[in-house]
Amino acid sequence: MPYSGDDMPIQGQKAITNEEIVALLQDDMKGEHAAIIQYLQHAYKIGEDAGEVPSEIEGIARDEMRHFRWLGELVVEFGGDPTMLRDPIFLDGPSTLDLLALDVDAEQRAIDQYRDHIQAIDNHKVKTYLKRILMDEIFHQGKFKDFIGEMGGNPEREVKNEDTGPWNNDPNPPSQDLELNEQGDAVPADMKDEGRDDHPLVRMLNSRIRQEYETILIYLHQAFVSQNPEQRNSLISDKAVWHMTHMGTIGEAVAGMDAQPDMELDFNQKFLGKAPVEPHQFNRWAISREEELDKITGELLALSELHGKDADEDLVSDLKRIKGHGKFQVEQFKFDEEK
Ligand SMILES: [Fe+2]
Ligand SMILES: [Fe+2]
Ligand SMILES: [Fe+2]
Repeated sequence: MPYSGDDMPIQGQKAITNEEIVALLQDDMKGEHAAIIQYLQHAYKIGEDAGEVPSEIEGIARDEMRHFRWLGELVVEFGGDPTMLRDPIFLDGPSTLDLLALDVDAEQRAIDQYRDHIQAIDNHKVKTYLKRILMDEIFHQGKFKDFIGEMGGNPEREVKNEDTGPWNNDPNPPSQDLELNEQGDAVPADMKDEGRDDHPLVRMLNSRIRQEYETILIYLHQAFVSQNPEQRNSLISDKAVWHMTHMGTIGEAVAGMDAQPDMELDFNQKFLGKAPVEPHQFNRWAISREEELDKITGELLALSELHGKDADEDLVSDLKRIKGHGKFQVEQFKFDEEK
């Protein structure tokens, strides 16, 4: 049911409609979505030689996931569709300090956008959520600046890109993968990354990353729109969350092989149409998706045992774990089916 606002509109300002609120929140979702992926990519890229920084960045990405969920639920409450579109992201830059400067910039865009949206929206509940999120973004920006300072960089240095990156205020974002070149200009990301993508294992791991990612987005979208509270809860806290772990594990393995984890999808949301929305039908679809993923895990395991010496040494054991999860997840959806 749409929430009827209880904040009085500012004098002289026309009250904002639910459709307008939805549009602003969808815009925020695109920025959060992009930030999640950009930060994960940067954490993989920076790697373990930067001490605790990568795991702290992953922690920030998890905060953005919580924001994304709140926004998705608010969008549905106001009668809109929780968008799975994503603003452009920066995959790479000349140095770790450049990556962190891009993240400081992403937080600044978020801070500016949330301040604007808090001003524009006169609904008490939405304002309350956006103010809470804004508080987190200010905190995140401080963390990113601290990382730069700890590494001997200048936390106040600005990046020169003007209109690309997370929170780019575009209603139809191109969702492209970018990188910063030596001159500090935004250019399309070079996914070939020194030709390592030619490695058959990297190619297969990357295709698996995209399947995990697509599955996560389909599950989240269903969780937001499902009229079934049990399905809603289990898809988020019990299903999507595990696939995020898998995507992260495989992403780290690809980065460990000096290749670029590939998180580019068909963001025109066409993939959302693959799954039916009715809860039981969705469940049956999810069983077949889980079975498909599990079959691919078996193939990946065979291939990574074959290429074991080139791969991240933990990859085989990670894949065995994912294989175990896959079998369980098929059974778990079947138990849900019996309810
Ligand atoms: Fe956020
Ligand atoms: Fe943030
Ligand atoms: Fe998975």
